[in-house]
Amino acid sequence: MRKQYDVAVIGGGPAGYVAAIKAAQLGGRAAVFEKSVLGGTCLNRGCIPTKCYLKTAELMEEIAGCAQRGIVLDAHPSVDLPKAVAHKNSVVKKLTDGVAGLLRSHKIDVYYGEAALATETTLTCGGETYGFDSVLLCGGSKPGVIPIPGAESKNVLDSDALLDLEALPRRLAIIGGGVIGCEMAAAFHGFGSQVTVIEAMDRLVPPMDEEISAQLKKSLEKKGIRVLTSQKVSAIQDQGTGSTVLCQDGTRVEADKILICVGRAADLDCLGALKDRIRLERGKVSVDEQMRTSIPNIYAPGDINGKHMLAHAAFKMGEAAACAAMGRPEACDLRYVPSCIYTSPEAAGVGLSEKAAREQYGRESILVGRYFFQSNGRALASGRGEGFVKVVVEKRYQELLGVHILGGDAAEMIAEAAALLHAEVPADEIADMIHAHPTYSEAFMEACAAALGRCIHLPAGQP
Ligand code: NAI
Repeated sequence: MRKQYDVAVIGGGPAGYVAAIKAAQLGGRAAVFEKSVLGGTCLNRGCIPTKCYLKTAELMEEIAGCAQRGIVLDAHPSVDLPKAVAHKNSVVKKLTDGVAGLLRSHKIDVYYGEAALATETTLTCGGETYGFDSVLLCGGSKPGVIPIPGAESKNVLDSDALLDLEALPRRLAIIGGGVIGCEMAAAFHGFGSQVTVIEAMDRLVPPMDEEISAQLKKSLEKKGIRVLTSQKVSAIQDQGTGSTVLCQDGTRVEADKILICVGRAADLDCLGALKDRIRLERGKVSVDEQMRTSIPNIYAPGDINGKHMLAHAAFKMGEAAACAAMGRPEACDLRYVPSCIYTSPEAAGVGLSEKAAREQYGRESILVGRYFFQSNGRALASGRGEGFVKVVVEKRYQELLGVHILGGDAAEMIAEAAALLHAEVPADEIADMIHAHPTYSEAFMEACAAALGRCIHLPAGQP
């Protein structure tokens, strides 16, 4: 045995590196085993790279709209994709180096290589065996696949490959109108591709509030992105250098590249020799509130358990698993995990959708308040009058149940909503809280007041 640890962590993504730091903070001897680069999907192939591209796309849109502000541009702007890739890679490197530095500062050993469980108390990596008291399986997730003819075409990419394309596809078809589909559509449309999104369900991002889905579709279409909903893809056929995506109703979408983003699957490789002994549920590792698997000293926080495939949820789950592994269990409250889509405008939500609230509390027990950015001074001055804040409130106690935002800074604004939901602050108190003027955040306060029929900045009689 090469070394023995209190806590061994397989996977250095958001769940894994945070868990290792937490274990070290609690006095544990910890190690991280990483088969690629620290930072996981979030830093290397997900949240951060896409945000680089989306900012570039947003800048292109703002440049296109700057003439009405009196800004005169002489040249027609375009995106140099290899430079955009290099910029994205430099941002990613800064952050992944930061993670490595954090781990070093906590004296956490990092091993690069593919690790897998050998027994309940040992793992192997690079031909060596390491021992542990507890192990955290933080293997994350990988892009899901759809079993259709032609899915193996050379023109079909997953989101990892799309992020490293150095030549812009003239026509991009995106199968799956979820979070990744919408963000990639916005980014590549901004770069200059003709984009079509094909979604099987009757709306984009089905888990979000229905009004957000509807408004997001309108917003993408207004930019020039083609959005097809209720469309099941039956096959992909290659034609010369391009391909055709065939839908079950006969619709054909011609494309040079096709992105498939229909959800992500848990990456179970790290289960190794214990893969038949650790309980799974629909292909994901089954865990309790402390992230403990069916084997008590083995934990599985993050995407691998499929509870919330989001980096910020993985941070929390990683901490919870480390605390439990170190014998200091803490509550892991995942009720108010915000979800954000970084399109322009952004979409974000936390808590119950209107539909879920009406189902849970009864149709008549719910109040809904909306405030549109069209009436918000900061939004108008910034050229971001699109969208709204919608709050879902329980009638009797004015309990805030959910907040849904489509608008310029939705992903930042949702933090206040999540904090107040967490603190169980009722809507009437939020309506009374002073918000700085002019800010986008005022729209949240106004929406709470609107739900209670006392919004100052809405015409009388308007709900
Ligand atoms: P997703 O679950 O968000 O969306 C997949 C979409 O594909 C769904 O709308 C589904 O109805 C549709 N779909 C499934 N099969 C289909 C088919 N055969 N034809 C057409 N449509 C089909 O998954 P996505 O977008 O791949 O994202 C994966 C994960 O990564 C998600 O859990 C997401 O939350 C996370 N993520 C989060 C980001 C963020 O927070 N901004 C950014 C990127 C990813």
